[in-house]
Amino acid sequence: MTIGFIGLGHMGSAILNGILRNNLVPADSIYVSRKHPENAQPFAAQGVHVLLSNSEVIQAADTIILAIKPNILVSVLEEIRENLNSRHLLISIAAGWPPDRLQSVIPEDVSFICAMPNVPASVGAGCTILNEKGRYSEEHMDTVRRIFNSIGTTHLVDNRYYSACGSLTGCSPAFVFEFIESLCDAAVLCGIPKNLALSLTAEMLSGSAQMAIHAGSHPGILKDSVCSPGGTTIEGIRALHEHGFHAAVMDAYIRAVEKGNRL
Ligand SMILES: NC(=O)c1ccc[n+]([C@@H]2O[C@H](COP(=O)([O-])OP(=O)(O)OC[C@H]3O[C@@H](n4cnc5c(N)ncnc54)[C@H](OP(=O)(O)O)[C@@H]3O)[C@@H](O)[C@H]2O)c1
Repeated sequence: MTIGFIGLGHMGSAILNGILRNNLVPADSIYVSRKHPENAQPFAAQGVHVLLSNSEVIQAADTIILAIKPNILVSVLEEIRENLNSRHLLISIAAGWPPDRLQSVIPEDVSFICAMPNVPASVGAGCTILNEKGRYSEEHMDTVRRIFNSIGTTHLVDNRYYSACGSLTGCSPAFVFEFIESLCDAAVLCGIPKNLALSLTAEMLSGSAQMAIHAGSHPGILKDSVCSPGGTTIEGIRALHEHGFHAAVMDAYIRAVEKGNRL
């Protein structure tokens, strides 16, 4: 298998690092292009081919990851169109481009799959949503799963849930970072050094998330298990309710979904 990357920014680099870390294919089977090729030097040093045009990537590789911003997707597809053919599988990670929209700008004989990774992919702890709608074979889907499993987990979902799931996993890390920052600020106010506050907060979140994954029960049950009657934690829960925490989080997510629908 040969893999091509068009665009190698935050997400493209995270995926490429996962592929290299897991030895999915040898580095010299990978071809990349980006607007500023000189910035791909660290990958070139590992044996990845850095090419000077997007069309060269299409000619060299069969599995192509489109890791460019959504607003230039159409112009890049126009640029590579004449070199695309039935041997290619295009993997699009562009937000706001579900399969029904994407198929109108991809030649009919070219296979494609839509995938929505998230930023924890940069530390190998991503969660990628794969859309079951698209134009692909089982072998193609297997390839895509192997690529995205190299940066975390994958979930194949019905097209109806794709955008909303993408917003849940793609946007929410920013909400979580906001929560971490708020908690750290409060800890600093209480006299805890910032670095210590950050480590403790992040480890606590990671552990709590593991509990939620393993327990598989309602998070309210887990919350209740921390709240002793008349204790300290329930005082904090009361403050969260007084400040509309639950509604704020729900609203943040719903706004992200609505914005995604308008893109
Ligand atoms: N970041 C996330 O959390 C996230 C999550 C899910 C999905 N996505 C999707 O991933 C895609 C990339 O996002 P990103 O955050 O990685 O963006 P990014 O960091 O800005 O990377 C964009 C890349 O595209 C390259 N590029 C720009 N114009 C190009 C052109 N004409 N031809 C080839 N390459 C070109 C840039 O090259 P230079 O760097 O050399 O200028 C850069 O490497 C987007 O569609 C986004 O919706 C991102």
